[in-house]
Amino acid sequence: MKDNGIKKDIKRFDVLRIIEHWIIAATFMVLVATGLSQKFYIFEASQWLVIKLGGIDAVRLIHRISGLFLTFLTLQHIVVASYGILFKRWRPVMIINKKDFTDSIDNMKYYLGLTDRPACCDRYNYKQKFEYWGILTGVLLMIMTGFILWFPMPVTGFLSGEIIPAAKALHTNEALLIFLVIAIWHIYNSIFSPDVFPLDTGILTGYVSRERMLREHPVELARMEGLRSEDICGQHDSER
Ligand code: HEM
Repeated sequence: MKDNGIKKDIKRFDVLRIIEHWIIAATFMVLVATGLSQKFYIFEASQWLVIKLGGIDAVRLIHRISGLFLTFLTLQHIVVASYGILFKRWRPVMIINKKDFTDSIDNMKYYLGLTDRPACCDRYNYKQKFEYWGILTGVLLMIMTGFILWFPMPVTGFLSGEIIPAAKALHTNEALLIFLVIAIWHIYNSIFSPDVFPLDTGILTGYVSRERMLREHPVELARMEGLRSEDICGQHDSER
């Protein structure tokens, strides 16, 4: 969008990224609903869902099929990202680096009132990177333990039988943890945070305002506009 030659909205996500996000979100919600209704089967809401879905066998089947789909989505994500970085010179934007640690300290100082400028972050800030790796690791654990629970006989052919209760404990507890991380951290940041309330529409439309890019991702904005990050960092705060 343009107004008097000044770009107002900045493209942040392309259409494939938006589609991938929503397919993963939908699959995740199906897994949470069909998994947690087995774990907390004594709750009325779980029993209601199990009956609506056609009984416990149907719920288990839906859970396994969605588990297979999540495995496919996760593998394609890893393969596409690795291929892009290795062969198509994509910037490895999710790699945690030294600046993420200095940024987190800078923000801490800013929140404590010790400096007057927040950290000057790139395309993804340290919070987003830590969340991404936490969820990716959690999902890989869910996939591994899910397959162990699904195929206990072949697995115990070459691993000790103790792996089954261990996989069960990990799968069931990690399910709750990953659900809470998404429900509290991710939903807060996308809906309830004062920075985006009532909704961060970036992952729906693909666009965010220039003002928000300046505040949250000034290094990326500077790169897009052919400027030096030193010229743009802190500009948002001096405008207030
Ligand atoms: C992140 C997504 C996932 C969540 C939140 C989730 C959650 C759960 C929960 C809460 C249970 C019930 C455990 C209990 O009874 O205490 C469960 C069971 C199970 N899950 Fe998952 N799960 C996920 C991914 C997967 C994946 C990727 C697979 C397979 C590849 C899988 C396969 C299974 C199997 C086989 C069971 C045992 C229940 C049965 O016999 O059907 N899950 N899951």
